[in-house]
Amino acid sequence: MPLLPQHIAVIMDGNGRWAAQRGSVRSIGHRAGAKAVQVAIEFCLEQHIGSLTLFAFSSENWNRPPEEVSTLMKLFLRMLDTEIEELHRRGVRIRFIGQRSDFAPEIREKMAWAEALSAGNSTLNLNIAGSYGGRWDIVNACRALLATAPAAEDITEAALGRFMALADQPEPDLLIRTGGDCRISNFLLWQMAYTEFWFTPTLWPDITREVLLQAVSDFAGRERRFGLTSAQVHGEQA
Ligand code: IPE
Ligand code: IPE
Ligand code: MG
Repeated sequence: MPLLPQHIAVIMDGNGRWAAQRGSVRSIGHRAGAKAVQVAIEFCLEQHIGSLTLFAFSSENWNRPPEEVSTLMKLFLRMLDTEIEELHRRGVRIRFIGQRSDFAPEIREKMAWAEALSAGNSTLNLNIAGSYGGRWDIVNACRALLATAPAAEDITEAALGRFMALADQPEPDLLIRTGGDCRISNFLLWQMAYTEFWFTPTLWPDITREVLLQAVSDFAGRERRFGLTSAQVHGEQA
């Protein structure tokens, strides 16, 4: 039985270049990218993967041209209107991570509604990172921990970790980044300490089940040592 990741994180990159290749404007790429999200969800449902975390919009993406930000917000709102009920019907639990107060009230209300509606589901944890940054997450967790007035010795990795996004789920086993760039772009900095990275030049709107299968099969062949020696991992005497 090949080893399956329990939690896949995805940096869905390359929408703009996909549009440029077709002589289209960036918003066309974002629309195609939104459709491609379904491919990743279907894949995780089919493979019985427990958690899927999608990087949809970073803290830094607010600095894009206002028209592009506005297109992305409209698209996000539309996705919330059209996709949530079907995801709920299929047993998907939806959660959002990131700085919610950055979003318009209309979007925030729909996020809360989607989370409440799907809270009892357990087929797949679908985490959508919006206005998310790994550094924001760490600062946010520090503030929450400090609000408990801890003594210096109570500030431990475990204590802080409980306040990080996705603390109730296993850390990502596999990070997939499309679009060809080999960087983390302020995604789950804390949670990905021991995540396996897999990069593909495939642009996000071109993602297919086959590409995702390649990522998962590459992952299955890796040895995760978590700082140990290979012999230790295999339970052999040193
Ligand atoms: C990813 O595609 C989507 C978001 C960051 C919102 P990009 O828009 O970054 O596409 P490229 O990287 O410019 O091709
Ligand atoms: C990362 O993509 C963020 C998302 C996919 C939402 P970017 O396009 O923002 O990353 P950089 O700027 O190339 O590092
Ligand atoms: Mg990009």
